[in-house]
Amino acid sequence: MGRRPKVSIVGAGMVGHTTAHWLASEELADLVLVDIIEKMPIGKALDLQQAAPIRDIDVSIVGSNGYEETADSDVVVIIAGIARKPGMTREQLIDTNSGIVRSVVEKVVKFSPQAYLVVVTNPLDAMTYLTYKVSGFPRERVIGESGALDTTRFRTFIAREVGVSVEDVHAMVIGAHTDKDMVPLPRFANVGGVPLSHLVSAERVEAIVARTRRGGAEITELMGSSAFFAPGAAVAQMVEAIVRDKKRLIASSVYLDGEYGERDVCIGVPTVLGGGGVERIIELPLNDQERAAFQASVAAVREHIGTLKL
Ligand SMILES: NC(=O)c1ccc[n+]([C@@H]2O[C@H](COP(=O)([O-])OP(=O)(O)OC[C@H]3O[C@@H](n4cnc5c(N)ncnc54)[C@H](O)[C@@H]3O)[C@@H](O)[C@H]2O)c1
Repeated sequence: MGRRPKVSIVGAGMVGHTTAHWLASEELADLVLVDIIEKMPIGKALDLQQAAPIRDIDVSIVGSNGYEETADSDVVVIIAGIARKPGMTREQLIDTNSGIVRSVVEKVVKFSPQAYLVVVTNPLDAMTYLTYKVSGFPRERVIGESGALDTTRFRTFIAREVGVSVEDVHAMVIGAHTDKDMVPLPRFANVGGVPLSHLVSAERVEAIVARTRRGGAEITELMGSSAFFAPGAAVAQMVEAIVRDKKRLIASSVYLDGEYGERDVCIGVPTVLGGGGVERIIELPLNDQERAAFQASVAAVREHIGTLKL
């Protein structure tokens, strides 16, 4: 008899809690919620567990302030840290969050040396790099969640603009997970195979791209706090791709070793996610303008990484 997959989520705040909700509703894995706030993750797990009989969900959901319960996780999601407030950039979180992520990763890898690590804490690309370095894991097993969220925002705006189902909209956002440096790629977007440029004017495409870049900031300004439903769904999509070996093509932040002409940096690129984690990195034929935007994005991430005490 096998056992159910096991997924631990470290940081049971808004995004961690919502991720657990999406994962539980998919009946994807046994879940462990960990947080530094005393007792809180135990309560959140219990609440979610008590929804299971109504939703016919046969997974176990437990909470803890320690790491013993996370032992031998297949996937560990790292969402511990502070989130931005209105007017802040994700980059401003780096000092506080690098200390938190480092201490979390050290404990996680002790208990789950074979796990796939999905990093969510911002600034995302620098925190993915830090996790890669601190864990010592192969790069296939350290994956930052960035493009999944930026792409679902891009797809939402395209679907609304064209007036079609979101199901038919395919798109891609690469580069850094920051307002300034993310690289939405409208040239690679299509609706049911029809190129976006055939359906939407260049001017409107530009407006959609601009709104996608500020997708997180727009919500933070409106709600007074950082988004969580779409981020949680984006994380769950990546976890599902790994646990169910779906081989989804999702832009994720991964350690580059020559791809796109770059080395020793983590940044968003199209990846195939499956049972082996990052099973492939797809190199897109970027035009001059897209390549320049991607390179500027890499330069920005290198600057953030440069401030980490590694
Ligand atoms: N990559 C993305 O697309 C994306 C999207 C949304 C949010 N985020 C980031 O995710 C992080 C969490 O956001 P949130 O809205 O859930 O914030 P939140 O404040 O609601 O939750 C963060 C949780 O981390 C916990 N925590 C802090 N230090 C810890 C430690 N050492 N060990 C264990 N837990 C610890 C806190 O107690 C808190 O419960 C932020 O850095 C945010 O910027 C990333």
